[in-house]
Amino acid sequence: MDRNLIRIRSLDREDITKILEQSKVFLEILDRPIKKVPALRGKVVVTLFFEPSTRTRMSFELAAKMLSADVLNFAASTSSAVKGESLKDTALTMKALGADYIVVRHTHTGAPEFIAKQGDFRVINGGDGFGEHPTQALLDLFTIRQKLGRLEGLNVAIMGDIAHSRVARSNIFALNKMGANVRLVAPPTMLPVNIEKLGAEVHYRPDAILEDTDVLYLLRVQTERQKDSLLPSLKEYAELFGVNGDLLSKFKKDVMVMHPGPINRGVEISHDVADGNDTYIEEQVRNGLVVRMAVLYLLEGGKEAAHEAVS
Ligand code: NCD
Repeated sequence: MDRNLIRIRSLDREDITKILEQSKVFLEILDRPIKKVPALRGKVVVTLFFEPSTRTRMSFELAAKMLSADVLNFAASTSSAVKGESLKDTALTMKALGADYIVVRHTHTGAPEFIAKQGDFRVINGGDGFGEHPTQALLDLFTIRQKLGRLEGLNVAIMGDIAHSRVARSNIFALNKMGANVRLVAPPTMLPVNIEKLGAEVHYRPDAILEDTDVLYLLRVQTERQKDSLLPSLKEYAELFGVNGDLLSKFKKDVMVMHPGPINRGVEISHDVADGNDTYIEEQVRNGLVVRMAVLYLLEGGKEAAHEAVS
């Protein structure tokens, strides 16, 4: 593995499998009364978030703390970024403070690579613009494998605002690498041109994927990123693409419903489906902890055998 985790594209199948296996080893820690192992004791992890986040930031913070690292949280809105400090100077400040890891979320695609050039810290991409969100894809793979036992040969449909979604992009790369079949379902305005070249089938209506979809992965309509409205209305989106009990009943029995969050109830997912038994959103969040622990641990070297990390 590289020293940084910025793009799924830089991981091969073996790296992904190693991260998923290490995550499985860390699962046991979540059930302990004292949820802490010393693997990263004395290391400093900075979460550098220039965009809002609930799950990703808290998950990285907790994952680092469970590995005994010291964590500094930076939120752009309460930092010197509002006084005009550049990304470069912010990164140099983190370097001077002795950061060993920087987890970065930024509106600009490519910001993590830029930060990685400013120091010898390890950089993990927590979501960059329309680029990638690698740890989200890894936790999604882990959640699918946990439930279905494999990734190879599965039919995974990603439905929603694919054009604005770094989560979709990382998942397309990751699922393809692991041998799953990816189908994208969205109105044409929410699909980037030539997206099928990334290795995915494209459909404009959910009807086309009802019978043999193993995993239905829903995405939020990202109104905050849209320059022009891509839809007549959210109501129309909900009518055509929103997953409610009725639409879900037309899918294969036991289809896994997933969503990276934040969900918009009543738009891409109804209340009953969001709270129903086919939905794995909470499992995704919980698994995000162990997957991020595994990434932090393996980037640090992870030289010891996997089981030694939990003793
Ligand atoms: C996503 C993100 O920010 O990329 N959320 C997440 O990290 N779980 C998706 C989104 O904002 O819709």
